[in-house]
Amino acid sequence: MSTPLDWKGYEPVLIPKISGLHQIDIYEKNGGYESLREVLLNKTKWPDAVSVVNEVKEANIRGRGGAGFNAGLKWSFMPPVDGGPRYLACNGDESEPGTFKDRKIFEYNPHLFIEGALIAAYAMSISTVYVYIRGEYRSFIQMMEKAVSDAYAKGYIGKNILGSGFSTEMVVHSGAGAYICGEETSLLESLEGKRGYPRVKPPFPAQRGLWGRPTTINNIETLANVPLVIKNGASWFKTIGAETHPGPVLYGISGHVNRPGVYELPSGMPILTLIQDVAGGMRNGKRIKAVIPGGSSTPVLRGDALEGVNMDADSLRQAGSMMGTAGMVIMDEDTDMVEVLWRISKFYHHESCGQCTPCREGTGWLEKILDKIMHGDGETRDLDLLLDVTTQMEGRTICALADAAAWPVRYTISRFREEFEARCRKSVYALA
Ligand SMILES: Cc1cc2nc3c(=O)[nH]c(=O)nc-3n(C[C@H](O)[C@H](O)[C@H](O)COP(=O)(O)O)c2cc1C
Ligand code: SF4
Repeated sequence: MSTPLDWKGYEPVLIPKISGLHQIDIYEKNGGYESLREVLLNKTKWPDAVSVVNEVKEANIRGRGGAGFNAGLKWSFMPPVDGGPRYLACNGDESEPGTFKDRKIFEYNPHLFIEGALIAAYAMSISTVYVYIRGEYRSFIQMMEKAVSDAYAKGYIGKNILGSGFSTEMVVHSGAGAYICGEETSLLESLEGKRGYPRVKPPFPAQRGLWGRPTTINNIETLANVPLVIKNGASWFKTIGAETHPGPVLYGISGHVNRPGVYELPSGMPILTLIQDVAGGMRNGKRIKAVIPGGSSTPVLRGDALEGVNMDADSLRQAGSMMGTAGMVIMDEDTDMVEVLWRISKFYHHESCGQCTPCREGTGWLEKILDKIMHGDGETRDLDLLLDVTTQMEGRTICALADAAAWPVRYTISRFREEFEARCRKSVYALA
């Protein structure tokens, strides 16, 4: 576990402090599209697509969409070119509660992401790039459409890009309000115009993806890191933040802090520093009761167990949680943890696609039992029943939504059990 040094002197690179950077001319004036030009035209440095994949693999950009998988390694799973179409699906569905960072890239630095997606396209011989954006992000979708059309007009997308002989197309696609469409195979179904049902894996998308053809899915922030790695090298990237989870991170901090927002800082930031120094401390000087570190599915941490816990995969695993999307929800001492869990469980029940019995029925039962506890009708044995339901769900379904629904229940109850028990003791059954 490494602690980032000198975070106060950190200069943002994903969303630098340059006004108007969303305009292509200003992006270009600040070195924009130079990394793409390099990989396409500098054959001494980048002799082939594999050299690009290797550099990205070496940088160890861990996927910022939740699972933290090495992006370059994922790219290397694409099968050899066979003359047929190949796809890159860029995941901007961003629907996990507590997560709101990709929208900042769409708004403030869309061309960095587009450039990253184009480098990825070259590295994997992609014929079409789809940018899947959550439907509620109407204004960001319009911004992205403008940015993509500007990049087309400048010859960065389309046929024979910059005279290199490489061609690829880019299409912006709007989602229609389903959280499940952020799951990678459900996203592919949605792109194909079908209902967003996740697919059984294997086959994995690299083998059989969009319309049965090789496809890679990456998060928007993951791809935005790519031009930086090409420009500065993998070794530079690995000096930023945590050793095993390097690079800049967009921390989305919400909840009971004085200055909620998206902050770009090195990975591995201590959680307490992010709350106290970056987000302006707790509102009204209250104590921290709980922190969800990476979106609503990641296990909640107790406020009294945050000392020495950093925002990187290793440190969070040791603390009993996960990095997820780095969408941090900070809760103060007045927070009702029963209500928090009830709301989260309502969300997952609503968003379950219903294909798998353990998820369809399990999320329903979780919500039903929590509803009972929440409204004063709970019994202590309901807590064990809830935990039992989670064990019937985890690892038994087509996609990870069932796990995402089970973990908050398991960990919120085990880490705040006294609060749940107290609520059950107050119930009408306990008084009878
Ligand atoms: C229910 C569910 C919802 C998801 N939603 C998103 C999302 O909104 N954005 C995203 O990038 N990844 C989401 N993921 C993760 C994707 O399946 C996939 O792992 C990710 O897009 C891969 O990109 P990365 O390797 O660059 O992180 C979701 C996963 C699940 C199970
Ligand atoms: S786990 Fe849930 S959301 Fe995922 S495929 Fe099964 S029913 Fe659908």
